[in-house]
Amino acid sequence: MGHEMFDFDQALADKVFAYCRKRLAMDPVPLDFGSLMDIPADKIDGLIRPEGRDAQEILELFRTTLAPAVVSIDSPRFLAFIPNAPTKNSLLFDMVVACSGLNGTSWLESSGVVVAENQALTFLADVAGLPSGANGVFVSGGSMGNLSALTVGRDVARAKRPEIDPRQVRFAISGDAHSSIAKALHVLAVDALIVETEDYRFTREALEAALANDPHPENVVGIVATAGTTNAGIVDDLEGLGSYARDHDLWFHVDGAYGGAALFSSSHRHLFEGIRHADSFIVDPHKWLFAPLDCCALIYRNPTVARTVLAQQASYLDVLHEGDDEHYDWNPSDFGLHLSRRARGLPFWFSLVTNGSAAYESAVQHAIDLAQRTETLINESDYLEMVRPSSLSIVLFRRTGWSAERYGEWSQELLRRQVAFVAPTKWEGETVARLTFLHPNTTDEMVHQILDSMRR
Ligand SMILES: Cc1ncc(COP(=O)(O)O)c(C=O)c1O
Repeated sequence: MGHEMFDFDQALADKVFAYCRKRLAMDPVPLDFGSLMDIPADKIDGLIRPEGRDAQEILELFRTTLAPAVVSIDSPRFLAFIPNAPTKNSLLFDMVVACSGLNGTSWLESSGVVVAENQALTFLADVAGLPSGANGVFVSGGSMGNLSALTVGRDVARAKRPEIDPRQVRFAISGDAHSSIAKALHVLAVDALIVETEDYRFTREALEAALANDPHPENVVGIVATAGTTNAGIVDDLEGLGSYARDHDLWFHVDGAYGGAALFSSSHRHLFEGIRHADSFIVDPHKWLFAPLDCCALIYRNPTVARTVLAQQASYLDVLHEGDDEHYDWNPSDFGLHLSRRARGLPFWFSLVTNGSAAYESAVQHAIDLAQRTETLINESDYLEMVRPSSLSIVLFRRTGWSAERYGEWSQELLRRQVAFVAPTKWEGETVARLTFLHPNTTDEMVHQILDSMRR
């Protein structure tokens, strides 16, 4: 007799599978309500107690009370922040991963995971134009990808330039880099040279001008470019910045957490050619590559260098590095700031293999095309104005005459009516409306509904 907690409950399993089947079959997934919904405290208080409770009852409590109080990020009506639109195949395979006890840490424990994840990573590296040998690991998200990559960049630069006081090394970034870049540099105790840009795009010219005016340009050891800013979808001058980095032997990191997916867009792919210069590059399959949370592809031009910086050393782990097998050295844990890790790349791998890369191309293109059609509608309207041209799949626009409060009410009202989840943002200090298209099932009709709701 094993421990009762590990008994298999067939009836509960049937209920859970039925729940999952129903969710997976939803077309479209409803938005639900997020924090607009009040969760009665008496339904939750005291649930945890020494003796367990009936599992089917708690599943029902989750279904009826907790699950609707979550805005479903995979609804095609979710257009706030950066949405997440996992394919059905990726969700199904996530369930396989959950049930299989897969530890994606090392070659010794899970070579089958490593082989599949590496296939997806090297495919992305190839699409990005990185040289053969480029590879890395799937980490939890863009923030962790940026932190891991910049840790490697900092240590490599310090080793290369012993003449610079290690506390003085700096990275050049633009003011529009994602907040996780500043946070990573803070954690790493590295200062940023924040480069002033023209029209929010970080270019080689802007970098050169900033360096020319800086008292210690020699301390700038790396450059961070953004391939698709979060607020506006702007792609930095990757070619110019990357070639500058190559010419001056600086670390070049490209944050494509959101926009890197547009490598799959036939109309926009050319904007990303400079990624071929990157020492490190991230793109989040959990954003625009249709995988479930949480999944960031972190790719290094030279993974060996990353391993030298990041691999954890401990006597109980020596066995992971000491095998006859030539692959023994390939442990995903060595390429990020983590040790134990979920095999989080597998749902993306399964979806990419089974749907094929052409499906990814058309799904990514759909969002860009919809953003452009939305821009046309806004330009034709007499009560809306574009704040700036749409970029990738992000549309920033204003309702003439609206205050910040009015945008807030509009956003809440749309969610209450289950029309869409939209969140206003700020542009040059002004509160404006922002739509991020991403889900291939977001339709023109949904856009019409949203724009119509701003008439009053
Ligand atoms: C450009 C960019 N970098 C990094 C991140 C952070 O990614 P995550 O939320 O997965 O940590 C985001 C998130 O939106 C992003 O847009």
